[in-house]
Amino acid sequence: MDKLLITGGTRLSGEISISGAKNAALPLLCAALLTKEPVTFTNVPRLNDIGTMLKLLAQMGVKVSRDGHGAATGGGLAGETITLDASGLNNAVAPYELVKTMRASILVLGPLVARTGEARVSLPGGCAIGARPVDQHIKGLTAMGATITVEHGYVHASASQLKGARLFTDMVTVTGTENLMMAACLAVGETVIENAAREPEVVDLANCLVAMGARISGAGSDVIRIQGVPALHGTSHRIMPDRIETGTYLCAAAATGGDVRLTGTSSAYLDAVIDKLMDTGCEITTERDVIHLKAPARLTAVSLRTAPYPAFPTDMQAQFMAINAVAEGSAVMRETIFENRFMHAVELIRLGAQIKIDGNVAFVTGRAALEGATVMATDLRASASLVIAGLVAQGETSIERIYHLDRGYENLDQKLTALGAKIQRVKA
Ligand code: UD1
Repeated sequence: MDKLLITGGTRLSGEISISGAKNAALPLLCAALLTKEPVTFTNVPRLNDIGTMLKLLAQMGVKVSRDGHGAATGGGLAGETITLDASGLNNAVAPYELVKTMRASILVLGPLVARTGEARVSLPGGCAIGARPVDQHIKGLTAMGATITVEHGYVHASASQLKGARLFTDMVTVTGTENLMMAACLAVGETVIENAAREPEVVDLANCLVAMGARISGAGSDVIRIQGVPALHGTSHRIMPDRIETGTYLCAAAATGGDVRLTGTSSAYLDAVIDKLMDTGCEITTERDVIHLKAPARLTAVSLRTAPYPAFPTDMQAQFMAINAVAEGSAVMRETIFENRFMHAVELIRLGAQIKIDGNVAFVTGRAALEGATVMATDLRASASLVIAGLVAQGETSIERIYHLDRGYENLDQKLTALGAKIQRVKA
C-alpha cells in the first residue's frame, strides 16, 4: 500500500487549481440513471470514489464513456469529461462488494426505483466515522409508495409508480435529500421535502435535474418542491468546484504561514470556513473564481461547532484541528453531525499535538511545534488533517493507508509539490 512521506517546515506558496466536487459528482452520476438519454459531465475529479461509482453504474448496464485527457493546469489536470448512457439499464442491484467501500452508493436507490420500479441495494453498514444509517432514505421512499424490505443485508425497494408525498426528515441529511429529490422527479404529482439539506451540492444536483427536464424549486432552502414529470432527457453539466478541497488547501497554506492562490473555485460556499480562517489571523481576498490566502507567522486558535450548511462543515473539522494544534492559544471543537469523528486526534497526538477528547468535544491547546512520526490515515478528512500536520511538523512524517486520501483528493501530492511542499508518494 502506498504511503506519503512529508518533510515539514516549508511555507506553501504559489497557485494551484481546484478540482470538481466529489460530493456533487457522486449524486450527479446517479442522476444519469433517471433517463434513457446520454448525460455528459465535465470537470469530473479523478478520484477512487468516482471510479467506484462508475463501476457500480457499469455493472447495472450503464454505458460509461470517459474522455480522460484533461488539459494540464497548475498542479494537476483539468477534470475529466464522462458521458453516461443508461438506455441499456438491466440490473438494478448494488452489490455489497462495491457499496461497502463507499456509502454514497446508496444514491442509486432513489433513481433506480423511480426509473425501473425495482432496486436492490446493499446496506452500507458501519463505517469508520459512525453508524450512519439510511433510515431516512427508506422512510421517504416508503411515503412515496415504495414497498421496502430489508433482508440479508440488502434494501429491496419496489414500486410500480412512485407518488408525490410530503416528506419530513428527522435530521438534515445530504444524500437523503438528494436520493428523495431524484426519486421525486419521476413520481406522479408533487413531492415536498421539508427539513431538506441546503448544501451547495444539493443545488448543483437540482440544477442538472432541471436541465434534464425536472421541475424543482426551493433547492438551497430547507423546503424543496418537486413536480413529477413522466420522463427526463439528456443534458450536459459542469460539476461545481470542490469546497472541501478548497478549504483543505486554505488550511494547509494557513498552517505553514503560506501565501497561496487557489483558482477554479468559489468563495461563495465557504463563508463559515473563510470566517474562521480570518479569525486565525489569515488575510483572505477573493475575486471571481480565485481565493488568495496570506497567513501570519503564527495562527490564533479558533473554537468551532460543526452543523449542516451554511454552518461550519463537519468535513473541515479535522483540518482545523491540525491548525489549532499549532496555533497560539486553545480551542474547543464540537462535532454535532457524526459520532466518532475524532479519530485523527490520536494520530495528531502522535505528532505531538495536545488534544483532549470528551464525547463529541475536543479541547486543543496549540503548541509551538509538532514532531514528525509515522501515523495512520483512518478516513478521508482525517487523512487531510495528518497531511497538514505533517507539513508543519519538524522532520519527517510518514502517513500510511493513504487510499483514504485518494478517495477524495485529486493529485494531492502533485498539487502540494506545486506549492513547494516536500512530499513524496512511496509505492509499497
Ligand atoms: C454527506 C457527505 C459527507 C458529509 C455529510 C455531512 C456526500 C457523498 N457525503 O454524507 O461528506 O460529511 O454529508 O455533511 O455528500 N443520518 C441518519 N439516517 C439517515 C441519514 C443520515 O441517521 O437516513 C444521520 C447520519 O448518521 C449523520 C447525519 O444524519 O449523523 C448526517 O448524515 P448525512 O447528511 O446523511 O451524511 P451523508 O449524506 O452520508
